[in-house]
Amino acid sequence: MEKNFKRHLITAALPYANGSVHIGHLAGVYVPADIYCRYLRLKGEEVLYICGSDEHGVPITFKAKDLGCSPQDIVDKYHAIIKDSFNRFGISFNIYSRTSSAIHHKTAAEFFSKMYNDGKFIEQESEQYFDPEANAFLADRYIVGQCPKCGNEGAYGDQCEKCGSTLSPEELINPHSRLSGETPIKKRTKHWFLPLDRDEKWLKQWILEDHKEWKSNVYGQCKSWLDGGLKPRAVTRDLDWGVPVPIEEGKGKVLYVWFDAPIGYISNTKELLPNDWEKWWKSEETRLVHFIGKDNIVFHCIVFPSMLKNYGDGFILPDNVPANEFLNLEGDKISTSRNWAIWLEEYLEDFKGQQDVLRYVLCANAPETKDNDFTWKDFQVRNNSELVAIYGNFVNRALVLTHKYFDGKVPTFSKEDLTEIDKNVIETIPQIVKNLEECLSNFKFREAIKEAMNLARLGNKYLTDTEPWKVYKENPKRVATILNLSLQLCANLAIAFEPFCPFSSKKLQYLLGWIEKNEEVCPTSKIDKLVDWKNLGRTDLMKDGEQINTPELLFNKIEDETIDAQIQRLERIKKENEEKAKLEESANLKAEPLKDECTIEDFDKIDIRTATVLEAEAVPKTDKLLKLTIDTGVDKRVIVSGIAQYYKPEDMIGRQITILANLKPRTIRGIESKGMILMAKEPNGNMRFITPQEALSNGAKIG
Ligand code: 2FM
Ligand code: ZN
Repeated sequence: MEKNFKRHLITAALPYANGSVHIGHLAGVYVPADIYCRYLRLKGEEVLYICGSDEHGVPITFKAKDLGCSPQDIVDKYHAIIKDSFNRFGISFNIYSRTSSAIHHKTAAEFFSKMYNDGKFIEQESEQYFDPEANAFLADRYIVGQCPKCGNEGAYGDQCEKCGSTLSPEELINPHSRLSGETPIKKRTKHWFLPLDRDEKWLKQWILEDHKEWKSNVYGQCKSWLDGGLKPRAVTRDLDWGVPVPIEEGKGKVLYVWFDAPIGYISNTKELLPNDWEKWWKSEETRLVHFIGKDNIVFHCIVFPSMLKNYGDGFILPDNVPANEFLNLEGDKISTSRNWAIWLEEYLEDFKGQQDVLRYVLCANAPETKDNDFTWKDFQVRNNSELVAIYGNFVNRALVLTHKYFDGKVPTFSKEDLTEIDKNVIETIPQIVKNLEECLSNFKFREAIKEAMNLARLGNKYLTDTEPWKVYKENPKRVATILNLSLQLCANLAIAFEPFCPFSSKKLQYLLGWIEKNEEVCPTSKIDKLVDWKNLGRTDLMKDGEQINTPELLFNKIEDETIDAQIQRLERIKKENEEKAKLEESANLKAEPLKDECTIEDFDKIDIRTATVLEAEAVPKTDKLLKLTIDTGVDKRVIVSGIAQYYKPEDMIGRQITILANLKPRTIRGIESKGMILMAKEPNGNMRFITPQEALSNGAKIG
């Protein structure tokens, strides 16, 4: 698979412009993609890092409806927020544009038209849910109902957010319209479908045979889609927010958001390079890589490649799709609707100038192979005991000692009297660099950042082992060698950490005297002379006699109060959510409606008595039934009752209950059951038996 690519086209999933981005998005997509792009740029590769806002889709229209504004207002607001916060966080996109742009509408419409004209779609009329009151078809999230898989009452027509199942509106139990709350009717409508089933053969070959190197989570998900058999997917919707379907018959309909969004990668490249974009999308010399979260795998590995291939005209397919799993927050799934998240925008306010701490923690703890958890305590520990105590501390010691003993001038390295310790450091640096490169090239960013930190660990150990402060008086020449090598390590750190922590790397470059203070951190245009990946591993980067700047700390300790304030914020949110959930539950739970009227004569036929359970045991080979021997005051008898899921046999013995005593006997599982135990069923489905408040004699008649 090792092809000789000339350029790298790196895309990051377009975030929906209906909210800010949070740490889950960052850890899953934007930080790893940014590290990768920065790494490639440092190697002198030609790179484009493409992203933008995904501004269509039903949730945006709902947000607009809730806030009483237009969908365009919503996307304008969030596009600006997202773009600004990415920029402040040092995410080095070459372009961050948006899918409501004219160029995108044109590109997506043209994409559809060509595929339509080439006969790449199938047309199908079908019955779809329609809300007569709102006069609208109910696509995707316009319809809610009960999830057939987990019973969640608030599942959407495309997905249940509780259990994560992909759904179609037809699968919902008791569907109702989100527009009017009414039960919808079915109405005929025409749509265009991408017949993925026709592509199954080449997709299988391309993914399962030719791309065995893809991450196992990605490969595995693709395999299960392909093994399950692909079905045609509708690429149009009956909505009014989106890219209008560009054919006469499609009037009043729009392209499905998942059809237009990935085309956004192309339109944004076009916007950036109007005359040159084709070389990026239509040349075998380009390596296309999509960074995404796991929920986007099918769209990027199956649907978009099928679109590109069917469109033809030389479009390339992705060479890799390094999707990440999900990041949780303090043990709980990140959720926008529950505000259970750390928002980038808020982080940037609360932790001014500390972008690298979050970048570091999200990379060190990235959900690369499995879901992972972000905790504020871990954030603090990683800052204080890794960034501050290892990287920052080493750099600071090296710089301070150089100022103390050599007036801040790089001292001379004496080759002639090298010790074993020095030699070991000189040999270890290239080994670390080799590991680091290997990890970065294979999207193993967690391991990569550990390797970068190993350079600083090596430096700290070197200073501790050689103790220059004890040696200086007798042997300043030896100290000169030690500090020269330490400064070479600092120089290596400035390069190695640039992809991960570009802000502190810049600061270190300044401290080493390489650049002016406060230079731009988004190096989309310029790479500093020395900060070049090929210089990594060298121990002659700092030249004798060069002046370094006055030491400043690269990282600051984060105090408990700062972390406690963040933890308290989350606790407040958790409490609010619990209260909200309770209120919703009680609002949803209504007692069942009354049965039809009956007469006192009807009731008189029924003989309800008190009784006591003497013995109780599970009926073998069932999980619902208990066999109860009871004293009714009139006789001792056996009742078989379906209460095993609510009560254990030992809970029943000795308890007073109420029974329907004159029910005709029945044989259940070979046991004659005489009567029925009375149970109360709560609206949430829970069942309890009815015990008199005070103990009564057995056989007391109820009526
Ligand atoms: O899942 C999401 O957040 C989508 N907005 C990602 C779109 S990626 C691409 F196809 F545009
Ligand atoms: Zn569900």
